[in-house]
Amino acid sequence: MPNEPSREDRLIGLATEARKKAIAPYSNFHVGAALLTTDGLTFSGCNVENASYSLTMCAERVALLKALSEGHRNFEMVCVVGQGERITTPCGPCRQLLWEFCGNIPVVMATVDGKRATTTLGTLLPNAFDSSFLGK
Ligand code: THU
Repeated sequence: MPNEPSREDRLIGLATEARKKAIAPYSNFHVGAALLTTDGLTFSGCNVENASYSLTMCAERVALLKALSEGHRNFEMVCVVGQGERITTPCGPCRQLLWEFCGNIPVVMATVDGKRATTTLGTLLPNAFDSSFLGK
């Protein structure tokens, strides 16, 4: 029997699929993301751009907001698949929001042609401001 795909492979596959739905006519930079919950469910997203530019929503935030709005609050891993040869890292606002709701989870980053790297949110956002500063 073939081996089960790893969680990383599963998320990369889902993010790669989600990336195909990217709405990015302004940047032409297509991104997909996938998030794994602690109960094994997955949520994916793509970037969605808009003529006002500043209302652009990154793939990671789309995946996160989909999961949160469906009632899921515990996450194990996030994955982002970007464009080109260089591995895409999550932008600053996405790091902040992912930190708020996911904490120090692994971040898998891959290119469409198979390059990959894994880090953690804590590495990407050291000394994060979060609810602990507000006594929460
Ligand atoms: N983008 C993402 O969706 N995720 C990232 O991690 C980096 C950037 C999107 C936002 C915008 O639509 C396009 O990529 C170019 O910045």
